[in-house]
Amino acid sequence: MAIAEIAVYQMTMVSPEKPAILFVCLGNICRSPLAEAAFRMVASKTGLAVEVDSAGTGDWHVGKSPDSRAMATAIRYGTDIAAYRARQLADEDFHRFTHIFALDHANLGDIRARAPHDSNAHISLLLDMVPGREGQAVADPYFGDEAGFDTTWQDVMEAAEALTLRFLR
Ligand code: 4NP
Repeated sequence: MAIAEIAVYQMTMVSPEKPAILFVCLGNICRSPLAEAAFRMVASKTGLAVEVDSAGTGDWHVGKSPDSRAMATAIRYGTDIAAYRARQLADEDFHRFTHIFALDHANLGDIRARAPHDSNAHISLLLDMVPGREGQAVADPYFGDEAGFDTTWQDVMEAAEALTLRFLR
C-alpha cells in the first residue's frame, strides 16, 4: 500500500480515540525498535496522531542503544534510531498503551503472562494486523547475518502500513 493511498484514507475517515501503541520483542535492541521506527515513519507521513514506544520482555539490554545492525538498517531505509534506548516491559505499559504488539510467539506468551488482570490493552502478534500473515512471527535476526535485518525491516514496514490503515479507519 503506497503512502499516498494511506493519506487518502485519512482524508475520508474519522479517527477514533488517539491510539497508543507498544511494540515488544525480547531484547528491545533489534525487532521492536525497527517496528517502532517503521510505524513512526508511516504514521507521521499520513498525519496519524499516535503515541508509540517499544520495549523488551527481558532486561539484559536495558539502557543500551539498538544493535548496530538494526541502526544501520534504519539508516538505509531513511530513519535514525541511534537515540533509542532499550527498556523492559513494565506493569504501567498495560494501562498506558491501547495496543501491545508482540514480534513473536514467545514474546506474546510472556506479555500475556505478565498482563495485570485489569489491563484493557489489546494484545496480539504484530503480523496479525497484516491480512494474509495472521499468526506469523517476525523472525529474530539477532543470531543471523545482516540480510536478516533487511527481512525484519520489510516485515515491520508491512505491519506499519497495515496498522496505520486500521487506525485511520
Ligand atoms: P530483539 O533481539 O529481541 O529483536 O531485540 C534479540 C536481542 C538480544 C538477544 C536475542 C534477541 N539476546 O539473546 O541477547
